[in-house]
Amino acid sequence: MSRKPAHVIAIYPGSFDPITHGHLDLVERGSRMFDRLIVSVLRNEAKQSLFSVEERMEMLREVVHVYPNVDVDSFDGLLVDYASAHSATVLLRGIRAISDYEYELQMALMNRRLRPDIETIFMMANEAYSFISSRMVKEVFGLGGSISGLVPPSVEARLHRRMPNHQSKEA
Ligand code: PNS
Repeated sequence: MSRKPAHVIAIYPGSFDPITHGHLDLVERGSRMFDRLIVSVLRNEAKQSLFSVEERMEMLREVVHVYPNVDVDSFDGLLVDYASAHSATVLLRGIRAISDYEYELQMALMNRRLRPDIETIFMMANEAYSFISSRMVKEVFGLGGSISGLVPPSVEARLHRRMPNHQSKEA
């Protein structure tokens, strides 16, 4: 059993298409728990996204620059290999509702089987944000609903630029 490293590095992986206040809450709390937190965007050509990986990283940087121990990066391949290459010993994930649990458990157990020295730590989403998902933000925005307070203002501005013809309900 390896001992606790002097400097604990955690990876917070995800699609972040785009980052929401729910993600940001986890970044903020994670930044207080770990010596270094790397928020890393999965490069997945197979999955259709609204924003490119570079745009998502830019959006993340715009909001996490206030945390000196938080970095933004991207990865492909196996998450545990990426974590190990960065000397990270923790994978950070958020759980909103019981519906997230099954998928998260499966991932955590698979990652543990691949690399038992890397631990997955789950944080319960802040109840104020537990209903927010990137997918729903895009859907509501596309149909003209308000997403104010669900995503950082810089992300909302980008959504307006990316989807200028969304069904705005504004007069
Ligand atoms: O935000 P998401 O889409 O729920 O994040 C999913 C993510 C990026 C954590 C997951 O798809 C992932 O880790 N992919 C990398 C490939 C991998 O390591 N697979 C094996 C473990 S399931």
